[in-house]
Amino acid sequence: MGRLDGKVAVITGAASGIGRASAIRFAGEGAAVLVTDLNAQGGEETVAECKRAGGRAAFHRVDVTSEAEVKAAVDRAVSEFGKLDIIFNNAGLAGAIGKIEETTAENWDRTFAILLRGVFFGMKYAVPAMRKAGGGSIISTASIAGLRGGAGPHAYSAAKAGVVNLTRSVALEVGKDRIRVNCICPGGINTPLISNNLPGGFEMASQFLKNIQPIPRAGLPEDIAAMAAFLASDDAQWITGTAMVVDGGFTAGPVLFGDQGALRPPSGNFMGPSFEQKPK
Ligand SMILES: NC(=O)c1ccc[n+]([C@@H]2O[C@H](COP(=O)([O-])OP(=O)(O)OC[C@H]3O[C@@H](n4cnc5c(N)ncnc54)[C@H](O)[C@@H]3O)[C@@H](O)[C@H]2O)c1
Repeated sequence: MGRLDGKVAVITGAASGIGRASAIRFAGEGAAVLVTDLNAQGGEETVAECKRAGGRAAFHRVDVTSEAEVKAAVDRAVSEFGKLDIIFNNAGLAGAIGKIEETTAENWDRTFAILLRGVFFGMKYAVPAMRKAGGGSIISTASIAGLRGGAGPHAYSAAKAGVVNLTRSVALEVGKDRIRVNCICPGGINTPLISNNLPGGFEMASQFLKNIQPIPRAGLPEDIAAMAAFLASDDAQWITGTAMVVDGGFTAGPVLFGDQGALRPPSGNFMGPSFEQKPK
C-alpha cells in the first residue's frame, strides 16, 4: 500500500530535477500524476519513469506564467483522473542575476512571473477543485533563499520569500475546507538548475554543494521529493502554513568551529574567564 494511494496530483516543473523526482516518488506511492512543464520532451520522459515506478501519469504542457494554462492543467487532472488532491507548485529558474543596480525591471518581472505569480495561479485554481474533493494539500517550492540573504540572486530571494508568506496567508483562509498549504525550503540541490549553469557541470556542482552545509554532501532531488510526499500524505494532516526546511543544516548557522570550520578554539575542554586566558 502506498502513502498516496488513490490521490491525484499536479506537479509543475516536473520535466527535471525536484519536480521529476517528486513525480516519480508520488507515482511510486500510488498517486496519479499530471506532469506539467514548459519542456515537453523532459515531461514525457518523466511520465515514462512514473509508469516504470508502477504509477499512472500523463504530460500536460504548461507555462506557469499563464493563468489560462495553469487553470487548464487543473481541469485536465480532474477530467483525466477524476479529482484533484495535491498540487506541487514547483516550476522555477534562477531568473534575474547580478548586482541590484544592474537588474532590469523586465528581468525582475520575468522572475516574479514564474516564481511567485505561477504559485499564485496554482493555488487559485487548486482551491476550488480541492474543495470539491473534500480537501487537499497544496505544496510549493520556496527556498532557503526566501528565509535569509545571500543564498540566491536578489529577485529570486524576494520571490521565494513571497512564496513563504503567500503559503501562510492562504493556509489561514482554507484550513476550514481541509485544504493544507505548505512550502518547502530546499538548500543546495544538485539539479540542472545549478549544474547546467556552472562550469564543470554535475561533478563540479556536487563538489561545491558538498561543502556549504554541515551534512557533507550535495542535496538530491529525492531529498525534497521525500518531504513533498510527506506533506502530500495524510501523515501531515495537522500540518499547514509551514515552511519546511530541507537543507542539510545550512540555515542552522555558519559552520565556524570543528573539523569543517575556519575557527579553531584552544585545545582542552573548558575556557575560563577571559582575563585568565592568554592570547595563543
Ligand atoms: N536546485 C536547488 O538548489 C534549489 C534550491 C531551492 C529551491 N529550488 C527550487 O526548486 C524548484 C525546482 O528547481 P530544480 O532545482 O529542480 O530545477 P530544474 O531546472 O531541474 O527544474 C525546474 C523545472 O521548471 C521548469 N520551468 C521553468 N520555467 C517554467 C515555466 N514558466 N512554466 C513551467 N515550467 C517551467 C523547467 O523547464 C524545469 O523542468 C524551483 O522552484 C527552484 O527555484 C531549487
